[in-house]
Amino acid sequence: MAGPFPLSPLARRAFASKRVLLTGASSGIGEQLALGLASCGARLVLVARRKPLLLSLQKRLSAAGARAWVLPADLVKADAETLVRKAEALGGPIDVLVSCAAFFDLARLEDIAPKRLEDTVRLNATFPMLATRALVPRMKKRGSGQFIHIASLVGLQPMPYYQVYAATKHALTAFCKSLDIELAGTGIRTTVIFPTGVRTPMVAHLEELSRKSGMSFLEPAEVARRTLEAAARGRLLVPLGILERLLIQAGRTFPFLERPAMRLIKRNIDTHHFNRTAPAERA
Ligand SMILES: NC(=O)c1ccc[n+]([C@@H]2O[C@H](COP(=O)([O-])OP(=O)(O)OC[C@H]3O[C@@H](n4cnc5c(N)ncnc54)[C@H](OP(=O)(O)O)[C@@H]3O)[C@@H](O)[C@H]2O)c1
Repeated sequence: MAGPFPLSPLARRAFASKRVLLTGASSGIGEQLALGLASCGARLVLVARRKPLLLSLQKRLSAAGARAWVLPADLVKADAETLVRKAEALGGPIDVLVSCAAFFDLARLEDIAPKRLEDTVRLNATFPMLATRALVPRMKKRGSGQFIHIASLVGLQPMPYYQVYAATKHALTAFCKSLDIELAGTGIRTTVIFPTGVRTPMVAHLEELSRKSGMSFLEPAEVARRTLEAAARGRLLVPLGILERLLIQAGRTFPFLERPAMRLIKRNIDTHHFNRTAPAERA
């Protein structure tokens, strides 16, 4: 099928005929990844909570000649081993896990309900680790496999008011970096993507803050394209954007600048977000 964005022959070959378990497929970056992967000839098991959106995506993929199955699930509650088994029953042994499902709050810590905090950790960090754990022995047996985890720039640096989200993305990053070394020589590869702002429903409510603070956004299709290109090349850590790379490098070279920079960001959020909106809804 024709893709939503151009991909190199290398990327197309890397995902041709691969069986992919994709979480967060109903929206944003995950939806674009589904379209991109299907255009390479991958077969997809699409996971998210909103079944109608998954069915509509499946219909679009099938109409274009791709193969896809829907597996609606709430990953805060789902058992990873069971989900992998169900995915395999639909599409066959999984070659690639793409974990994209996540949520976040831009909120003062005390305004995040304990249950919401636990759910965020579960969805953004625990579930991807458990799904990876379920797949590793299967992939080891076959001598190949691939994990693609969508983290965030806040998986590499702190960010005021994103404390729980940042903790989950840091956890996921450390997990992937450690596992990648552990899995050397097994034929299993890992890629972690670090986007900053991406124009998706996840951040739609932050439009005013981003406009006033001059934050720029990537399009989800561009993030998906760069994710697939980087994963096809077997890159482990992939910060998207020159500014992001500079920020990370600056933080490493001049660590004493981190706190002043974060204080500036905090002031920006205080002025343009908290002075305008009510505290985060308590779950
Ligand atoms: N947008 C950004 O600025 C940005 C920046 C950096 C990193 N990221 C990362 O990019 C990834 C994709 O986010 P996005 O921006 O594309 O956001 P999005 O459009 O809101 O997509 C989030 C996806 O996660 C799924 N999801 C949420 N809760 C779930 C649950 N309990 N169980 C199963 N699935 C669930 C949603 O589907 P349902 O609601 O149907 O369940 C949706 O498909 C995330 O990992 C996010 O952290 C985003």
